[in-house]
Amino acid sequence: MAVDHLSTKEGYDRWAEVYDTDGNPLVALEEPEVDRVLGDVTGLAVADIGTGTGRHAVRLAAAGARVTAVDFSEQMLARARAKAGALDIAFVCHDLTHGLPLADASFDRVVCGLVVDHIADLAGLFGELKRITRPDGIIAVSVMHPAMMLKGVQARFTDPTTGRETRPASHPNQLSDYVRAAVTVGLGIAHISEHAVDAELAARLPRAQKYLGWPMLFLLGLRP
Ligand SMILES: C[S@@+](CC[C@H](N)C(=O)[O-])C[C@H]1O[C@@H](n2cnc3c(N)ncnc32)[C@H](O)[C@@H]1O
Repeated sequence: MAVDHLSTKEGYDRWAEVYDTDGNPLVALEEPEVDRVLGDVTGLAVADIGTGTGRHAVRLAAAGARVTAVDFSEQMLARARAKAGALDIAFVCHDLTHGLPLADASFDRVVCGLVVDHIADLAGLFGELKRITRPDGIIAVSVMHPAMMLKGVQARFTDPTTGRETRPASHPNQLSDYVRAAVTVGLGIAHISEHAVDAELAARLPRAQKYLGWPMLFLLGLRP
């Protein structure tokens, strides 16, 4: 099948229209696992790095966190800003390949959900995540499991305008690349896990069925 390859930013600008409604099993698998790593966020300062449509940001704000949310896709951010509960979130439009416009040691929790498969300089970004996190803070990094590449899958969606499979640019990072980046910048690994599609998820989301038993999610919990 013909695939449209776009820059990461243009790809997400187009994906924004259907991102929250396209029944993505990775998102369903990821959310509870990220919550387990973050723990109770009531009253905490939380940064959502690569917030997209604010999936984590809005939930975490509703749970009582003070949330700052960063992304470079204006269209994804527009979806996030339009959500109920987004009024109290500080949104920042910024390219993560440049240093984050956030103060040192200013967040108790940092989440970077399903973003780092778009990042070539992982150590550069992980160093920035470490810099903005308080010494006793936790950083949750989730990403599509690289084993999905063996099935020919990278971040992709069906563009509702063209009807074509469309891929924002990704980098073929492996598990060792993520772990090496964390260790290189001096982050401690407090949590590391891989998650496969189980029967419950496959029954709930038709798109998950063909990945039953296959690793779909990789998750790190990091400490400065
Ligand atoms: C798969 S979405 C994840 C969104 C959200 N974190 C979630 O889990 O639902 C990836 C997001 O990363 C953002 N992103 C990718 N590369 C980026 C970069 N260099 N700078 C800023 N945002 C970036 C995209 O715009 C997109 O919103």
